[in-house]
Amino acid sequence: MTLATLKDVLTPAKRDGYAVAGLVVLGWEDARAYVAAANAEDVPVILQAGPGCRAHTPLPVLAAMFRHLAETATVPVVAHLDHARSVEECEEAIRCGFSSVMFDGSQLALDKNIEETAKVTRLAHRSGVSVEGEIGFVGYDGGASSHGTDPEEARLFADGTGIDAMAISIGNVHLRRARSAKLDFGLLRRIENLTDVPLVLHGGSGIPHAQRRMLALDSKVCKFNVGTELRQVFGASLRAELANNIGEFDRIRLLAAIEPSLCEAARAIIRTFSR
Ligand code: 13P
Repeated sequence: MTLATLKDVLTPAKRDGYAVAGLVVLGWEDARAYVAAANAEDVPVILQAGPGCRAHTPLPVLAAMFRHLAETATVPVVAHLDHARSVEECEEAIRCGFSSVMFDGSQLALDKNIEETAKVTRLAHRSGVSVEGEIGFVGYDGGASSHGTDPEEARLFADGTGIDAMAISIGNVHLRRARSAKLDFGLLRRIENLTDVPLVLHGGSGIPHAQRRMLALDSKVCKFNVGTELRQVFGASLRAELANNIGEFDRIRLLAAIEPSLCEAARAIIRTFSR
C-alpha cells in the first residue's frame, strides 16, 4: 500500500462507523510491530511521533522510517506528527515527509488557537498534508488538569481552521494506566450536533474497550490515540524476556523477541474499534 493522509483514513471511518488507531511510536521495533498488526487485521493505522519520541530521534529519521513502513505495508499507513507546539515544527515535519500533523494549540486563547491552527492548515493543505487540531484541553494523569471542550468553541474552531480532525476533551486524560476514564457522553453529543469534523480522543489507554467500540460504531469519534497501554506491554514483555534469558545481552535479539507480544497487543486494541 502507500502512505495515506489522516483525511484518507478518517473520512471512510466516520462514514462507515469504525475508528482508526493512532499508535504512539517510540522506535523502530514498536513501529514495525504496529504495522504488522494493521496488516494482519487488514485495517489502516496511524503511526504517531510525539514530543518524547522526537526528543530521542531526529524528525528526518522518523519520517523516513514511517514512510518506509508505509511503502512496504499492505494497508494505508499515516505518518503523523503528534502534539506539535509551533508552526515551525509542523513545517519541518511536512518538509521531512510526514503526511499528517497535529498542531496542539489547546493551551492558547481561542482566537490564537484558531489563528495558529489555520496557519498550519493552509500550509499543510498546500502540500497535501492533513491537520489535526485540539480544542479544550486533554490533561495528564498526575499532571495538568483537563478543560472540557465547549461545544460552541468547537464549532468556531472547526469552521475557522479547516482542520481535518478535531481532538476534544470529554473526560479522556493522557497517561492513564487503568481504564478508568469517565466520559461525558452528553457533552460529546452536543459537540457532534454542531460540527461534522471527524473527532479524536487522546488518552485512549484510559478508555474502557467497550466504550471505544460503542463510540466507534455510533459517534463521530473515529481516531483513538493509544500509547500508555502499549508501553506497559513493552515494559512487561522486556522484563519477562530479560528474566527468562539471563545471559542475553544483545539488543536486537532482546527486542526481536518481544515484537510478537507488541503486535498481539496492538491487534487486540485495533479489534476493539474496527468493523
Ligand atoms: P495514552 O498514552 O494515554 O494512551 O495517550 C496517548 C495520546 O493521546 C497521544 O497523543
